[in-house]
Order: sequence, then structure tokens, then C-alpha cells
Amino acid sequence: LAGGSLLLPIGLQGRSFAGDAGSPRVTPFSLPFRVPPVLNPVRSDSTTDYYQITMRKGQAGILPGKSTQVWGYNGISPGPTIKQRKDRQSVVRFINDVGTETSVHLHGMASLPQYDGYAEDLTYPGQYKDYIYPNNRAATLWYHDHAVHETARNVYMGLAGLYIVQDDVELGLPLPKGDYDVPLIIQDKQFGSDGRLIFDDQGEDSQMGDIIVVNGVPWPRMEVANRKYRFRILNGSISRSYKLALSTGDDLVVIGTDAGLMSAPARVKNMRLGMAERYEVIIDFSKYPVGTKIVLQNLGLPNNDDYDGTGQIMRFDVVRRETDDSSIPSTLRYVQPISASSAVRTREFRYERTNGLWVINGKTWDRNRDDANPQVGDVEIWRLYNNSGGWFHPIHLHLIDAQILDRNGKPPFAYEKGWKDVFYVGENESVRVIGKFGPHTGKYMTHCHNSVHEDHDMMGQFQVGQGGADPITTAPAKNLP
Ligand code: C2O
Ligand code: CU
Repeated sequence: LAGGSLLLPIGLQGRSFAGDAGSPRVTPFSLPFRVPPVLNPVRSDSTTDYYQITMRKGQAGILPGKSTQVWGYNGISPGPTIKQRKDRQSVVRFINDVGTETSVHLHGMASLPQYDGYAEDLTYPGQYKDYIYPNNRAATLWYHDHAVHETARNVYMGLAGLYIVQDDVELGLPLPKGDYDVPLIIQDKQFGSDGRLIFDDQGEDSQMGDIIVVNGVPWPRMEVANRKYRFRILNGSISRSYKLALSTGDDLVVIGTDAGLMSAPARVKNMRLGMAERYEVIIDFSKYPVGTKIVLQNLGLPNNDDYDGTGQIMRFDVVRRETDDSSIPSTLRYVQPISASSAVRTREFRYERTNGLWVINGKTWDRNRDDANPQVGDVEIWRLYNNSGGWFHPIHLHLIDAQILDRNGKPPFAYEKGWKDVFYVGENESVRVIGKFGPHTGKYMTHCHNSVHEDHDMMGQFQVGQGGADPITTAPAKNLP
């Protein structure tokens, strides 16, 4: 079963791994699946839960018989999952003991006052910073490092974790819950023969690994009952996208996008997942007899999945029978479409590589420049255009949730018809995105979520309204006592 001979297309760029013979071998599906621990608050009051996380180096057992140093939230990778109820506030104290500067971004939610994981709002070793999150809607988010020019390395080394907000509407639906509501954080890693993580961005091009890890475990094997499960899937990779499909050819039932549930479930045979995108997917194992093994495959993408790998992500082994009281309602949470006619303007953003740099409209990151200035409440259309040839760019907007109007003039894929904050812009694609800016004023970043591109320097910012809290000086990190 492990010897899948699925041949993957060779990438246009033909990358190699710096003379390395490749990571030590791991037999796919030989290691047990696990989920990251859920973080308990250090205290709570009537409105707020207070958490504390120390960023530090830790030793992880990722490869059998070897120890790997990771840079982790609480020393683990992925970091602990924060689970919160809508409208309860979280205050998270992030302490930097990781030996390099950091900035923490909760991807998918503004923090208050505005400092939002702003790339130049750095917390140095020996400092800490309290981030305040309003948890204003239910969604699967993630927190990760965002330090300017070092994001790719810091996230690759382990600084990433899940952050789940739930509300009564969602919990009132008969979807799979509890142990049947399972996170899948998919990443690719490259290891030296001694087990160390190798970060090599191939000359500011991309960081690709030849081992796929899910929740930090190479190609895990998950034992499941013959019932439905809800998976919250995050592509936490630096540069690799995935095209997910089941080896049985059965449907993936997509119920949620980056920023929460969709209006209605979308049944698809496969789906593309760019970096930082989240999709919530129901897989129904009830039709499979005990003993069935189902592989979550990666069908690969012509310009990206060029590793000599297996085209596999993980395996589900149906090991027991159980009754299933869950179901997939035909309506989930209504997503009000934003009509193109409500937009007050259209802006164009062109993503390309010029003179060895990754640029947006020909420009690199400059914190003294604003690339757009929507007013609070303005609805805008942003046309994201990639004529680079050979590259895809998952484009992320901080602060707001938006919708895809069209992709090359055609409707978005069925699984993309929900609130999103990352927009996959493939080669020669033009994607029109519509969103309403606000409610917060201030400066927010927008960038490619291939963090190697982001670091060099495919990142810009927009200023919402006039003024607003300065992202760097409003609440600087404090020194530890
Ligand atoms: Cu997930 Cu600006 O990042
Ligand atoms: Cu990019």
C-alpha cells in the first residue's frame, strides 16, 4: 500500500535539495496520527480567557529513532490549539525565548488595539507581548510567526498553531463534534540524515520538503470508526500546495472555507489547497467495511509538486463500527454574497518576479508606503493578477474576510464559495475578490503566503480610513522581569 507509484509531474523549475540525498526514509502510514494539545487558559474572568505561550526551542520525535529541534509555541510544533467561544475575548501573552525576533499573527482575525502581527512590530528574545483577540466570529484560524524577512524560516522551524472559534449556531448543527472534529495541519519538511530540519529556500525561491507531515507526523495513519468525521484542514506549508482527493474516488464534502461555514455543503472529487488556506471537510467512512484503508492523496500540481514523493498525505484505517448521530445539513450558515455593483472602486494588483525579487505592482515591501486606502465601510473589488508563468501565489489580506467574484471570468470553484482571506492565484490567472473594509482603521498587510515570496518581498499594506493605532508604537513588546 505504501508503494504508491503515482507519478507526479516535474516542476518547471526543477529544484533540487542542496546536494542532500533527501530526508531519511520513513514508511508512509507507519506512524500513528495525533492532534496537537488544546491549551488551557491560565485564568478566566467573565469576559476573557488569558493564555500564555512561550516561544522556545524544543526537541521533537518526528522521524523514527531521531530527534529534531523545532522552534515551537511552548516548544512544540504544531503549537497548542487555542479553542475559544465567539464573543469571549482572548488575551494571549507570547513570551519570546526562541533566540530570534518574532511577531505573532493570528491569521484571520484582527487583534486589538491594532498590532495584528505586523511584520515590523518585533518582539525580541527576552521580551513578551500581550495580544488581544475579540473572537468576533466562528472560524478555523491559525497563529504563526510573521517577523519581517524571516517569516518563512520561523514558520518552517515550527512557529505555527491552530486557533478555533466556535459559536452556538455552529454547535447547534448536527455536524460531527468532539473527537470527530479533527484538525489536519499539512506541511512538508526536509531533514538532514541526522534528523535536523533543513531550511533551504533555493535562493529566495521556495522551501520544499520531501516528507509530508500532518500535525507534525510524517504520513500518519489514523484509525477511524465507520462514521462521519469533520476535518479542519490547514495548509501550513511554506511553498507547497496540495490537491486533495480520496483514493476511493469518493467525495470530499466541503462545509467551510477560511473564515467559517459555507451556505451549503459542496461535494467535490478533489480540491486545491494553497498555503494558509483552510477548508473544513466531512469525510463519511460509513460505507466502508471495517478493514478498509483510505488514503488522502495529493494529486499534485504541475508547477509545485515536484518532489520525488508518494503523492500521499495520510491514511484512514476503518477499524471499528460505531453509530453515527451526526449528519450534514443542506444549509449551514448563510453567506450573503457581496454584489459587484456595491463596490465603490476596483484596484489591480499584479504579482510577478522582477530582478530576482518578488513584487506587487513592481514594488517590494516598504512600511512607509500604503498601496491602498479604502475608507471604513467601503466595498472594493481587488483584481489579483499573476502573469508570472511558472508560479502560483496564494494572496492573503489581513483584517477582512472577502469573497471570490470570479476566476478568469468564470465562477469560483464550488468549494471556494464562502468567506475567505487567502486567494489562490494560479499561473496566468486573474482572480477578482470583493470585500468590505473595516471596521478597524489602521494599517494592515497583504502579501503572498508563499512565505519565501513574502519575505523577498511580495508584501504591501493598506490603510483603512484615516489614522488608527500605529502597528509598531501602540503597544511595544515589554521586557521580561
Ligand atoms: Cu498567515 Cu500575513 O499571514
Ligand atoms: Cu508568491
